[in-house]
Amino acid sequence: MTRGLRRRLTSYGDQDFSLFLRKAFIKAMGYSDDALDRPIIGVANTYSDYNPCHGNVMQLIEAAKRGIMLAGGMPMVFPTISIHESFAAPTSMFLRNLMAMETEEMVRAQPMDAVVLIGGCDKTIPAQVMAAASSEVPAIILPTGPMETGHHRGERLGACTDCRRLWGQFRAGQLDEAELGEINGRLASSVGTCTVMGTASTMACLVEAMGLALPMSGSAPATSAERIRIAEETGRVAVAMAEAGVTTADVLTPAALRNGLAVLQALGGSTNAVVHLAAIYGRLGRRLDMAELDGLGRIVPVLVDLKPSGVAYMGEFHAAGGVPRLLSELTDVVDLDAPLAFGGTLRDCVANLPPRYEHQIIRSRDNPVSADGALAVLSGNLAPNGAVIKHSAADPKLQVHEGRAVVFDSVRDMTERLEDETLGIAADDVLVLRNAGPRGAPGMPEAGYIPIPRHLARQGVKDMVRISDARMSGTAFGTVILHVMPEAAAGGPLAAVRTGDRIRLDVPARRIELLIDAAELERRMADLPPPQPSPARGYARLYDQHVLQADEGADFDFLTGMPHG
Ligand code: FES
Ligand code: MG
Repeated sequence: MTRGLRRRLTSYGDQDFSLFLRKAFIKAMGYSDDALDRPIIGVANTYSDYNPCHGNVMQLIEAAKRGIMLAGGMPMVFPTISIHESFAAPTSMFLRNLMAMETEEMVRAQPMDAVVLIGGCDKTIPAQVMAAASSEVPAIILPTGPMETGHHRGERLGACTDCRRLWGQFRAGQLDEAELGEINGRLASSVGTCTVMGTASTMACLVEAMGLALPMSGSAPATSAERIRIAEETGRVAVAMAEAGVTTADVLTPAALRNGLAVLQALGGSTNAVVHLAAIYGRLGRRLDMAELDGLGRIVPVLVDLKPSGVAYMGEFHAAGGVPRLLSELTDVVDLDAPLAFGGTLRDCVANLPPRYEHQIIRSRDNPVSADGALAVLSGNLAPNGAVIKHSAADPKLQVHEGRAVVFDSVRDMTERLEDETLGIAADDVLVLRNAGPRGAPGMPEAGYIPIPRHLARQGVKDMVRISDARMSGTAFGTVILHVMPEAAAGGPLAAVRTGDRIRLDVPARRIELLIDAAELERRMADLPPPQPSPARGYARLYDQHVLQADEGADFDFLTGMPHG
């Protein structure tokens, strides 16, 4: 077997000389022959001063290295891109595929027998799982974990559902600037990922449920001793994984992927996870079946009482038993025979749960947070290939609604005109945003959560029907229809909507309709302006020419399909 430093020798005829050279160079770091003659475990370092969600990565690396060495392996830390939601222009999603490509290629290029991928902020774990799914190297995910909650005048605060709620209060004139400033210092009160069931927590929990990360690793707080111990244990098991040679593609069986969809519904998880899971499916040569996702939502209720669908924060989810506890409530829909990357099956994760206690935030099946799952898939003449809504985090009164469309042509147009009083926006209007999909914006920004216009916010309006080809932050609340497919910039009918049209939403019937006749829609589609030209150079050009629609995970068309060696 090719092991350790012998892996992937770039030999030009003389393998032994290549190994001789490789060892000569690495010995410059002070390693002994004994250290080098062991399974080599790569550890992806995603620390960055721009990424507070990864602020504990150096500590996790130390602990993972300890675990690797205790188990007889040799850790080799290497850098990869780090992406934070607030510091990645034009969008973090635009860069996710770049991180996935870079991670895949660096794992493949450098000699390692297994790899620990440390991720956390929204796009990083998805990028790493996409990379791992396309790689022959056994991989385990080590999430950075959720941040602490803060406190303000007797109230708990957590990024970032409360960021939006309190900003909404400021817009409505209920908070002054001084108080807003105080709050600003308390919303993200430690390193780690957003502490609600946003995209980061959702993805960390999903990788745990799909067998790619250790039990409880999806929820242990970023600053806890338990998180450090999980990092040490992750290092240990990575050495055994190097021996076993099980790849991510082996772990992500159809059953494991379906388990991910079921857990997403029960978590009250982020809509963004649908895009990321679709990309992961694509890497394995499969397609996420939107009908299956919707069908699971009809039989799997939301069980986790966390913001934005519920009331609590990730710390309480962890205390209540985290993903293993949640899986134990879903044994009729989840396949417990699904394999784990580090050996055994999902059944092992639910074998020794502590007893349930009263009032915990992971509810039992007979007492759900909401009877339906978190997400529904809509279709109709406005979204022929589907659209997604997180109806568990929306006003129940708006689930069936008809209203006048008010159309914004781009994110910029929305920003410039949303407060324009001549539009006469009323609470029962339907706000439409287009050209904000994977290609249109580009990078499918989280602009789908269109703010409530100020004059309505001041009247106490908290929710309106909003429709777009954009995404929405997993931490947001509202009747927001997202990922309309195809997007306007790819010739979807969203491009043909005009202000004044009527739009009808019916979530129970899973319909979203533009109320004009088919002939008129066809006429308008034929009259649409030609698409924007591709950017002239660089990654933006690659992105524009190769990005797929949201139902294929907004991955690049040349990255899908089975892994290669
Ligand atoms: Fe990084 Fe929320 S901004 S997890
Ligand atoms: Mg987010």
